Amino acid sequence: MVRLILLGPPGAGKGTQCKRIIDKYGAAHLSSGDILRAERTAGSALGKKAQSYMDSGALVPDDLIIDMMIAAMKKTPKGYVLDGFPRTTVQAKGLDKALANAGEKVDAIVNLVVDDSLILPRMTGRRSFPKCGAVYHVQTLKPKVEGQCDKGCGSLVQRADDKPEVVSNRLKTYHEQTSAVVGYYQKKNAVILNVDASREIDRVSEAIFQKLDSLK
Ligand code: AP5
Repeated sequence: MVRLILLGPPGAGKGTQCKRIIDKYGAAHLSSGDILRAERTAGSALGKKAQSYMDSGALVPDDLIIDMMIAAMKKTPKGYVLDGFPRTTVQAKGLDKALANAGEKVDAIVNLVVDDSLILPRMTGRRSFPKCGAVYHVQTLKPKVEGQCDKGCGSLVQRADDKPEVVSNRLKTYHEQTSAVVGYYQKKNAVILNVDASREIDRVSEAIFQKLDSLK
């Protein structure tokens, strides 16, 4: 069973790599962004509260996120890969507390490192099918038929927060509030696996698998 945290700026490839990690090692993919988007689609109270933060590239308040993610983790007895959570040191402390209460700890933190200059083209070229979770890119990860999900789900869409002006806000938010989470775990002597995520997708996966296998 694996319990991992995947960190990295928006567009680093967290969602893309998470899918490959769970295919290889099992466990559930718990993406705070995907859960929030599902809440929005369902029109829940949480989804409505989250909407304006997400549309502007700001973070949804910590208390909402911590409760949402701890509830999701409790439903996954076979381990998990946390994607996009924790995103502040307050969230990291909330996660630590919940893990201590459950007598659990994470095996490692995979930190995807990529320069800001590569982010904008990745985000503006992203296309996805939210229901099945498939993610493509118009240049680097094309679907078999242009604009259509390979799983036969239907037409691909562009996320509203992938507009250039929102992407730059999300990057700003990352540097101001999220990059400190790596330092938080460093101080706690957690196992941090830094991976160069500027390479092509398969090379990044290989580097992650190599580092995870070396932990066994
Ligand atoms: P969220 O959905 O988590 O967005 P994010 O962290 O900004 O990450 P992304 O999903 O945009 O990128 P990714 O790293 O998964 O990249 P992907 O693999 O898709 O959050 C959205 C919003 O929700 C936040 O702004 C916030 O408002 C709210 N939120 C979520 N969690 C929160 C929390 N914990 N606290 C508070 N608020 C929260 O790849 C991107 C594209 O690049 C794809 O097209 C892919 O094909 C391509 N690509 C990937 N890897 C490579 C590569 N190596 N080379 C070339 N292309 C690549």
